[in-house]
Amino acid sequence: MKCRIDKTKCNIFLDLGKMPVANGFLNNKKNQNEYFYKLQCAFNKKLSLFQIVQFPNPKKMFNKNYPFYTSSSKFMIKHFKNFSKFIKKKYLKKNSIVLEVGSNDGTFLKNFNKKNSIGFEPSESVHKVALKEGLKSYNKFFNLKNVSKLKKYHGRVDLIFGANVFCHIPNQVDLIKSIDRMLSKEGTIIFEEPYLGSMYKKVSYDQIYDEHIYMFSLTSINKIYEKFGFELIDASHQVTHGGSMRYIIKRKSVSTKTRNLLKLINEEKKKEVDKFSACLKFKKRVIHSKKKLREKIKKILENKNKICGYGATSKSTTILNFCNINKSMIDCIFDTTNDKIGKLTPGTHIPIIDHKFFKRSGYKHVFLFAWNHKKEILKKENNKKIQWFSHLN
Ligand code: TYD
Repeated sequence: MKCRIDKTKCNIFLDLGKMPVANGFLNNKKNQNEYFYKLQCAFNKKLSLFQIVQFPNPKKMFNKNYPFYTSSSKFMIKHFKNFSKFIKKKYLKKNSIVLEVGSNDGTFLKNFNKKNSIGFEPSESVHKVALKEGLKSYNKFFNLKNVSKLKKYHGRVDLIFGANVFCHIPNQVDLIKSIDRMLSKEGTIIFEEPYLGSMYKKVSYDQIYDEHIYMFSLTSINKIYEKFGFELIDASHQVTHGGSMRYIIKRKSVSTKTRNLLKLINEEKKKEVDKFSACLKFKKRVIHSKKKLREKIKKILENKNKICGYGATSKSTTILNFCNINKSMIDCIFDTTNDKIGKLTPGTHIPIIDHKFFKRSGYKHVFLFAWNHKKEILKKENNKKIQWFSHLN
């Protein structure tokens, strides 16, 4: 298989089987023509880049009904608020222009001057919420074709930001060229994405789904951006989305790599995150994790206990379909998202129920699919009788 970025060879090493669109929640009536693709992972040794092989057309994923609202998590609201304060202090001047790629419902952009901030959001459902907030949100993909039309911003944007979105974009060359067109000379690119090293450490293979086309690392980002006249200058670990990395990039010669970055790259190399050998180790651990999880569920059910899920995440689609877990094993999944409630999970057709019924449902065995929001969820839903579990423990 040829890699999309530099056309060198990619090694396919892991097959997670037939997979539906991760956020393709189904209405009860219309579950006949479900779309499936083959979820396989590959590694490009030259770029040290982890990627999936096949994925649906992004228009199938980011459309009128995209159901993920950043503001559904109080933690994320706070995270972006704190981060925007830091950005203003360190990277922006009074009238600096800020652009967000994949601005969702505006949770991040809301923290900036509305006149000087713009967002690109292809999914209409979430874009509409941003518009209501009075934000300048373009209901479009961030690509060369679309940014070419916005001449007044060319070379004038001081910060280009993305959170959990750069890894969604199949054509990274077009993405970087679009950034190049918009960014000012001394401008900064900052993005935070699920981190390959964290996925390996936790064996959180549920991070692999159609939207996450790439799973980046410091080494891969360094190698990719260098090709286009940019330089990774700093980075930091983030707890968001179960373990992310924040990358800070500038045009070459505008700044130099920080000591902190060199230390992080060193740590990454020690763990061989940049090597194919780590992929093979990960594969073994994924297969073992599936076996352990199926045994655990079987044991709970054999003891005549019932199981429900909590958090109908995109990640849950990978776990449920890869581990062949269906509604005879998990009765339902509780969730807070209006657009998901009353629907069925993709591929496995488990009903999604309003979280407000969780407390009185009396389930004692709960699969926490939204494990990345554990603190927030347990704070409001926990009681001593509940045994929370996931594929991670
Ligand atoms: P998340 O893990 O953030 O994303 P992804 O879909 O990328 O895997 O999804 C969080 C889901 O969990 C979302 O459907 C809302 C739900 N949720 C709750 O039901 N209760 C909560 O308290 C929180 C924080 C999220």
